[in-house]
Amino acid sequence: MFPLLGNGIFLAEGNIHAQQRKALAPGFSISSIKALSPIFWRKALLLSRLWQFELKKEDVQSKSIEILDWLSRATLDIIGEAGFGADFDSLHHPDTPIRQAYQRFFIFDNWSRLFHGLHSQTRLARFLPMKANYELMASRRRVLNLASEIICDKQSKRLSQTLSREKNIIALIVRDNSTSNGKLSGNMTFDTMRDQVMTFLGAGHDTTAAGIGWTLHLLSKYPSTQDKLRREIQEYMPFLFSPDNREDESWLSKIDEDRLPYLNNVCRESLRYIPPVPFTLQHSTAGDQLCGYRVPAGTEVTICSNTINRVPEYWGTRADEFDPDRWDHLPETHTASAYMTFLHGPRGCIGKKFAETEMKTLLCCLLSVYIFEIDDSVDDPEKWKMWKITLRPRDGITLKGHASGVSAFRMAYTSLRFLSRELEALVLNFYRFPLPLANLL
Ligand code: HEM
Repeated sequence: MFPLLGNGIFLAEGNIHAQQRKALAPGFSISSIKALSPIFWRKALLLSRLWQFELKKEDVQSKSIEILDWLSRATLDIIGEAGFGADFDSLHHPDTPIRQAYQRFFIFDNWSRLFHGLHSQTRLARFLPMKANYELMASRRRVLNLASEIICDKQSKRLSQTLSREKNIIALIVRDNSTSNGKLSGNMTFDTMRDQVMTFLGAGHDTTAAGIGWTLHLLSKYPSTQDKLRREIQEYMPFLFSPDNREDESWLSKIDEDRLPYLNNVCRESLRYIPPVPFTLQHSTAGDQLCGYRVPAGTEVTICSNTINRVPEYWGTRADEFDPDRWDHLPETHTASAYMTFLHGPRGCIGKKFAETEMKTLLCCLLSVYIFEIDDSVDDPEKWKMWKITLRPRDGITLKGHASGVSAFRMAYTSLRFLSRELEALVLNFYRFPLPLANLL
């Protein structure tokens, strides 16, 4: 993935990293993200409309959908417009070149896994005459060219004084870091800005898509949680549930996704339970002590968010269960640093607020139109978690989406199915105990 991420803030070190972080921070402030929220909503509404077309095309009320691919396209289009003012429109055009550049990376066949394994072990792997290497370099060229075009465009708009009309992260950063004659100034050279665009593109779409995908999977597994969340959304945003009003955008500026406490709990719990970035590697630049152990300079430290997010000492004895309500009664031993999904401190995720707002918007929009249910004909995606920077299921996430016109009946049906599954598990558990006893007699 690193060739696609560019040499931006993600790979910068020391003072250079601190300076870049300071220059980029205004673009990711809470007020900047709030201003971008209408873009999130428009793309979310488009996604739900396109799913409705899919149902209409086949004249059905429900359909199995591989949601992860759709979500990756939606989040790519969102980072394109909110991040750089570019409309990739991969929701309408799945084969758009920029989409293909990333798609190749997430193929999990045996060759791709071997190739990825080699790359993680040695930098020399990139020189091997393999088809996968040529494809990776072709993808890199595509992303690099696009990022260069974006920065050229912003610079020329800065010159013609039209950049101030643009509301996107990179326009704001170019404005803050360029002189009146359009030249980029200080630490933000043309190459640095181009690499930041590559970093935001790479770090900012598949992570959130995986987060939303896993959340919808968990909501399908726990229908009562899904119902409770849908009720909260309906209470706060009834217009979303009315086919006549949901497309009327006059409500866009009035809503605040952060005012839904249960939605907040569901998102945090899903990101805790299955963190899209399950671990990260850091290189210690100076010697230090960690829990009484000496860590010399130059040590490679692996930070396992997926483990820390489930340590019973911080999360309680039921740390291994998905339970959004836990956030209302965390154990006294809990500390904010135990939630490692976005890391913390100077290397923590700069796009956290962006990702949270995007995730909440897409969930509200989709849950107001569809009821999601596990598709028993495919393997449980939790069995096939695969890691390539983000944690994704090998075959994507396929769920049954029901248009919510059949809601009352469908909700009752899914709740009954859930109860019968729970009952079955209970009965199986009960019979597990008497068996050894029977053997003793
Ligand atoms: C659910 C979604 C996301 C998750 C779980 C996530 C997680 C993370 C994590 C764990 C890191 C630290 C990586 C490391 O140091 O090795 C990180 C860094 C970063 N993330 Fe995110 N991220 C998400 C979404 C986003 C979005 C939407 C953007 C941009 C729009 C973004 C931009 C970045 C950048 C630029 C860094 C590097 C920060 C630095 O080194 O100072 N992320 N992210």
